[in-house]
Amino acid sequence: MASQQERKPHVVCIPVPLQGHINPMLKLAKILHSKGFLITFVNTEFNHKRLLRSQGSDALTNLPSFRFETIPDGLQTPEDHDASQDIPSLAKSIEETCLDPFKNLLTKVSGSCSPVDFIVSDFLMGFTLAAATELGIPEILLWTSGAGSLICYDQYPNLLEKGLMPLKDPSFLDTVVDFIPTMPGIRLKDFPPFIRIMYPGDEYMVKFFHLQIERAKMASAIIFNSFRELESDIFDTLSSIFPPCYAIGPFHLLEDKIANKSLDSIKSNLWKEESECLEWLDSKPPSSVIYVNFGSIAVMTPQQLVEFSWGLAKSNYSFLWVIRPDLVIGDSAVLPPEFLEETSDRRFLAGWCPQEQVLNHPSIGGFLTHSGWNSTIESISSGVPMICWPFFADQQTNCWLSCNKWGIAMEIDNDVKSDEVKSLVVELMTGEKGNDLRKNVIELKSKAEKACASSSGSSVADLEKLIHLMRSF
Ligand code: UDX
Repeated sequence: MASQQERKPHVVCIPVPLQGHINPMLKLAKILHSKGFLITFVNTEFNHKRLLRSQGSDALTNLPSFRFETIPDGLQTPEDHDASQDIPSLAKSIEETCLDPFKNLLTKVSGSCSPVDFIVSDFLMGFTLAAATELGIPEILLWTSGAGSLICYDQYPNLLEKGLMPLKDPSFLDTVVDFIPTMPGIRLKDFPPFIRIMYPGDEYMVKFFHLQIERAKMASAIIFNSFRELESDIFDTLSSIFPPCYAIGPFHLLEDKIANKSLDSIKSNLWKEESECLEWLDSKPPSSVIYVNFGSIAVMTPQQLVEFSWGLAKSNYSFLWVIRPDLVIGDSAVLPPEFLEETSDRRFLAGWCPQEQVLNHPSIGGFLTHSGWNSTIESISSGVPMICWPFFADQQTNCWLSCNKWGIAMEIDNDVKSDEVKSLVVELMTGEKGNDLRKNVIELKSKAEKACASSSGSSVADLEKLIHLMRSF
């Protein structure tokens, strides 16, 4: 073991075992590593095997001051693991399984590697706080979404008190919620569905989120993959409710600037990337391609797939469409043969792509997205305007912010129809409104870059404050 004098502070980072949470936690871990911390990154056994499969074990071993450990997630069979796309089942399994293995892991690595100085845990991994308290280790939380969705999740007691929840019937979703001053005009339907009680069985996730939010108020600090210029008024409001908040995003911009190149081999893709799409994009004129991707969890019906297909076909634009093997509910994705024939010279279909590189490619002119937070912040950082088809979790709120507060997107109806897809794509790519959205998002891109610029940027300044706090523990 290293002597006390030269010992690096040891951070254990633990994400929710889902792609949209592993990505930002890994970037944050690399950022902390660049600031002189020893990192132990904890995956579930199942996901670690997937990472090893998608990039090979060499990429994840023998790294300087960066190590991986695993704990079980409680899901036993491959069929159970389909439940990793079923969030309530995954949340229950983690809650019931992970506390003891995590405590044992902390004790083991403290003895065999170096004492654990603190834990950086995903907001939604509630059991880690119990472990941290029992072992006397300070804990910092990562909220992988924007500040806007956190403020909405925190309204649950207010919604109950004002009689807005449980929801009397779906027509109440149009009710305007007028008690969040930073989000004027937001409706109940723009809140995360996980705070709605509408159908039997909704209570579990509503209580789960409420518990995590209340627990977060006891953490030492909260880190966001956002930047102050994007959500300054919301961060101001949060500061009177939550522990100190550090906005050090967009993580990937900061990571590009400061992360140690020796860690470049570590990637977080659970699916195998099809990077050939980049060569296809190289062959297209600037801003001529619409990129379509609904992230790692969203699913759709076969009919919705068909509506999207024909909407893209009728728009006459070239498109890069990522169709995950499990994108379509209960079936493999079957695209209409006439659609495949008609679009054969202007489409690229993939199962998974290098999204950050795709969004940064000059030929991309717009993004049809489910409004996951990572996709939103990556699109902003690339200056790409969006069409939003939110599915669940924070996505409705991210969509509302993108369309109504930042003016960088248009929403598509959940009951998607091909004509609407076509007209929104055409408007986004060449219409007057699309032009305005593009101008706004390019302005935000520039602010994001400034936030991550050397010493003057707000995210860099928040990172320095965070490091100061962590070193003071
Ligand atoms: C989930 C939630 O849905 C999201 O709302 C929440 O904010 C985080 O967790 P997910 O649905 O997967 O995430 O969406 P998103 O947040 O956009 O994250 C997907 C990540 O996977 C992004 O970082 C994206 O770059 C990456 N990705 C996605 C790829 O690299 N390639 C792909 O083909 C698709």
